[in-house]
Amino acid sequence: MAKLSNLISSVEESRTLAITSLIKKLKAEGRPVLSFSAGEPDFPTPKYISEAAIKAINNNFTKYTSNEGYPDLLKAIINKFEKDNDLHFAPENILVSSGAKHSIYNILVVICNPEDEVIIQSPYWVSYPEMIKMAGAKTVVIDAGVEAGYKITASQLAKAITPKTKALILNTPSNPTGAVYSKSELLSLAEVLKDKDIFVISDEIYEKIIFDGEKHFSIGSVDYLKDRVITVNGVSKAYSMTGWRIGYAGGPKDVIRLARNLQSHSTSNACSISQAATTAALNGGEEEIAAMAKTFNERRDFIYAELNKIKYVKCPLPKGAFYVFFDISETFGKKAGDLLIKDSTTFCNYLLQEANVGLVPGVAFGNDNCVRMSYACSMADITEGLKRIKAGLEKL
Ligand SMILES: Cc1ncc(COP(=O)(O)O)c(C=O)c1O
Repeated sequence: MAKLSNLISSVEESRTLAITSLIKKLKAEGRPVLSFSAGEPDFPTPKYISEAAIKAINNNFTKYTSNEGYPDLLKAIINKFEKDNDLHFAPENILVSSGAKHSIYNILVVICNPEDEVIIQSPYWVSYPEMIKMAGAKTVVIDAGVEAGYKITASQLAKAITPKTKALILNTPSNPTGAVYSKSELLSLAEVLKDKDIFVISDEIYEKIIFDGEKHFSIGSVDYLKDRVITVNGVSKAYSMTGWRIGYAGGPKDVIRLARNLQSHSTSNACSISQAATTAALNGGEEEIAAMAKTFNERRDFIYAELNKIKYVKCPLPKGAFYVFFDISETFGKKAGDLLIKDSTTFCNYLLQEANVGLVPGVAFGNDNCVRMSYACSMADITEGLKRIKAGLEKL
């Protein structure tokens, strides 16, 4: 066979997908595995949204839309950014894509040149380094460990910047840690970027899932940064619409124009029916999403309290999203039969084999001392899963 692309061959398979397939395989073999690896809400899509999609189908709204997106959706996105984020955009500032992932990828591709550096923090969402690679750029990682609340500081950011820095990616609330940057923390990061020609991609997909009275703040609303920030959001998490594949971004016209152009030659418009559903979602009331966030909050409270009672576990309090990211490094060096636990992957293998519990190794997110547990599942499963983790770790 002719040689395949060197660049794309160097991209790693998503490690979260790898553990999810192993869990699925064990389940198919009849093993009673409880999986906590899901990155999607377990609720159905609210009915008013599905009904808008059914209406769109019945009205034959099933053709190409313009590549830019359905005008009513653009209006709904502009209103959302105004209302929630104090961001003020015209239609030319908005990109509508097939998921937030797609928006982020398109933006990275259109802003990066070879040798450019893109700064991310660790723990990070699995796809950032691989997307940066696919855009031909280089990832620079700033370490934000558990003691730092999984957040980077202004001085760390200042040290990481070089003449080659093209962009910083921020993600608040964070996947995998649930950390939320406060307004003052974001303002101190903004200060570092003030006189620098660096883009910020602000991934705010978990904005609506936030606890303890924390207030989400969009760094794009900082006046002196507004021409350099691309704010990304979508309906997957807040509206339980992962399968509908709509994400969007608001940012500088030149960036959006190139991203739209890239999209027009690769995927064209996002799904017309999903665009109609998203318009209904964004124009709809907030009660249903607030109810989902409240349920996540109850689960978070329970899981945080119970996990910290378990031997070897150190779990900081997540302030948003639907994951706990906890330290299990005290188990390293312990043996279970033939298996030596020495990192997050061997720890997850042990729990999967011994306790039928599926967690995601922290190494996938750049921190090999931790594991991620999603609480996008029922309280019954969480209760049983915690029992199994406790029993599994007591055997060590
Ligand atoms: C931090 C983060 N950003 C973006 C996405 C992508 O979301 P979408 O379903 O809109 O592509 C995810 C999904 O897991 C995520 O966790």
